[in-house]
Amino acid sequence: MSRDFSRIRSSEEYHEAMRASIQDPARFWEAQAERFTWMAKWEKVLSHDFERPEVKWFLGGKLNITENCLDRHLGERGNKLALIWEPNDPKERYLRLTYRELYEQVCRYANVLKRNGIRKGDRVAIYMPMIPELMVAVLACARIGAIHSVVFCGFSAQSLADRINDAEAVAVLCSDGMFRGAKEMPVKTVVDDALGQCSTVKRVIVTERVQWSVNMVAGRDVWLHDELEHVDADCPAERMDAEDPLFILYTSGSTGKPKGVVHTCGGYMVYTDYSFRNVFQVEESDVFFCTADVGWITGHSYMVYGPTLAGATQVMFEGVPTYPDAGRFWQIVDKHAVNIFYTAPTAIRSLMAHGIDHVLPYSLHSLKVLGTVGEPINEEAWHWYKSHIGKNRCPIVDTWWQTETGGILISSLAGVTDEKPSHAAYPLPGVQPVLLTPDGKEITENEVEGMLCMKFPWPSILRTTWGDHERCRQTYFSNYKGYYFTGDGAKRDAQGRYRIIGRVDDVINVSGHRFGTAEIESAINAAKGVVESAVVGFPHDIKGQGIYAYVVTEEPVVDAEAMRGNIIEAVSAGIGRIAKPDRIQFVSGLPKTRSGKIMRRILRKVAENELDKLGDTSTLLDPTVVEEIKAGRI
Ligand code: WTA
Repeated sequence: MSRDFSRIRSSEEYHEAMRASIQDPARFWEAQAERFTWMAKWEKVLSHDFERPEVKWFLGGKLNITENCLDRHLGERGNKLALIWEPNDPKERYLRLTYRELYEQVCRYANVLKRNGIRKGDRVAIYMPMIPELMVAVLACARIGAIHSVVFCGFSAQSLADRINDAEAVAVLCSDGMFRGAKEMPVKTVVDDALGQCSTVKRVIVTERVQWSVNMVAGRDVWLHDELEHVDADCPAERMDAEDPLFILYTSGSTGKPKGVVHTCGGYMVYTDYSFRNVFQVEESDVFFCTADVGWITGHSYMVYGPTLAGATQVMFEGVPTYPDAGRFWQIVDKHAVNIFYTAPTAIRSLMAHGIDHVLPYSLHSLKVLGTVGEPINEEAWHWYKSHIGKNRCPIVDTWWQTETGGILISSLAGVTDEKPSHAAYPLPGVQPVLLTPDGKEITENEVEGMLCMKFPWPSILRTTWGDHERCRQTYFSNYKGYYFTGDGAKRDAQGRYRIIGRVDDVINVSGHRFGTAEIESAINAAKGVVESAVVGFPHDIKGQGIYAYVVTEEPVVDAEAMRGNIIEAVSAGIGRIAKPDRIQFVSGLPKTRSGKIMRRILRKVAENELDKLGDTSTLLDPTVVEEIKAGRI
C-alpha cells in the first residue's frame, strides 16, 4: 500500500512525495482522487499527448464536484461555518452560512436555474459583485452541470458581451447594482447594454443587493427572490464525466481577444483540494481569508472550490481594502479571527504606502500563515508583510500559478519547506517544471535562467480554449514541442528554488490582472482621432506594472488633456477602467522595422527610462522618431 501524501507535514515527506509523484504519477494522483465521492470510479488515471494537445484525467470517472464541496460534509461538518461574508460597509451586519445552509442555498438556486430552462452543458455567464449569491450561483451551475463563465464585475458591457457571445451563453446571473467603497455602481444596466449585442441569452436572473429600481425585460428577466418562492432545497447532483467542462474563464494573451480557458470536473477538483490543503497547511478549525474576486481564477480555485472541497471555513469580503480606511483587511482579520490570509502583492504595496498607523490598532494574533499570488513580490513588500502583518512568526507562501494551471504549481508549503523573499520556491509534488533555453533545450543545472515550462501534466491543466482548440495548441504547446509553455521567464537558484521574473510575451500584469497589449491597443484605436497605438508595461511602485501608451493621432494634438480623456473613455468602454493607461504619450509615428513591425523593445526601454539601452536603431524605417519619442517621454 503506497502512502497517499494527502497532507505533507515535513520536508522529508515533501521530498518523498516528490519522488513518488515522478516515479509513478498515476499512482500518486489516484491516491489523492480516492479522498472524494465518485458516482463511478475511473477506469484509467491519465492519458496525455502534449502535441495535439489532449490531456485526460480519471477517465470514465463520474462525479459532481458540488457533492464533494457540500453533501460530503453534511454528516460531520453540517453545522460548521462554510462562509463568513463581510459586507462593504463595516456597519452592516455580516452573514454566516454553515455547510448545511450553503448546501440548501445552492440546491435552491440550482432549482431556480432548472425552472428557467437551464440544462447540463449550457453556458451561463455570471456578472456579480462579491456577495454570497455569487458563490451560491457558481456552485448551483456546477450542481446541474451547466458550464459557468464568471466575468469580473469591473469589465465593461463590451467585454461582457464578447464573453457571452464567444461562449454562446443562454443565461446571465447578475445583481441590480453593487457597493464598492464609498460608491454604489450599476450592474444590471451594464448587463442590459451588453445584451443589446447578444442573441443567445434567454434569461437574466437578478439578485437584489442595492435595491435600485432596474429595468426588467418581460419574458427575459426575473428576480431571484421571486423565483426562490417556487423551489425547494432538494436538487440531486447531476452526474458528470470527469472530463466534462466545469467552467470557462476568459484570460488575456499576447494576441487577439481574451480566450476562454476550459477546466474540467475531475482533475480540477482533485488538484484544487490537494494544493489548498498542502500549500496553506490548513487545519480543521482554521479560518481562511482570500481577498481575490471570484471573477479571477484565484477566486474560483481558492474561494469557491478549494476551501469548500476541504471543508474549511472562509471569509468572503465584498468591499475594498481602503474603505472606510486602509486598515480594513486587518480589522476583518481581527473581527473573524482569520488564521490564513491570502492576497496580492499590489494590495500589500498599496497598504504599505498608506502607512503603519493603519496596522497598529489591530492585534493580528490569530494569523498563522500568509500568502501572495498574481505577480512577483518585491523584497521590500515581502519584509513589510512578514514583519508588520505576520509579526515575524507566520510563514509566507508566494504562490505561482495561472488561470491555465487551475491551481498553485510552485510555492513553498507553509512552514514545511523553506521560504526566500521574492521566490515562489519549490514545485508541488506532482508538478514537473523545467527551464528551457530560447531554442528549447532543457537546462538541468542550477543558478540559471530560462523559459518556464512544464514537462508533465497535472490534473488541473487547461484542456482547451473554448471553441478554438488550435489556439490552445499554438499558445501553450507549440513553442516548445512536448512541453506546456507558461509565458513566464524564471530563475532557479543553487537550492533549486524558482524565482519568477515575469512574462516573456506581450502580456502586462497590472495589479495582478492580465492584459494583452494588443487588446488595449485595439481599445485605444477605437477612440476618435486615433490612428494607431503601441502599449508596453513599465515598472510601477504599487501596481507592479503600469500601462504606457504611445499614440499616433490624425491631427496634431491641441488639447492633450481632453485627448487623454477620450482615450481613457475608449479603454473603459472597450475593456473596463482596470485597463486604463497610466501614461499616454502622443507621437508622430511609431518605431517600425522596414517590414512594418513595431519595435516594442525600444518603446519598453523608453517607458522604463533606460534611454541609454535602446540598442541598435539603425535598421528602423525612420530612426528620427526615436529621438522624438525619447524627448517626449512622460
Ligand atoms: C503571474 C493568477 C510571480 C505570472 C493566479 C503568471 C506570478 C500570471 C505569481 C498568471 C507569483 C502569478 N510570482 N508571478 N507568485 N503568480 N504570477 O492567469 O506572470 O491571472 O503567468 O493567474 O501572473 O496570471 P493569472
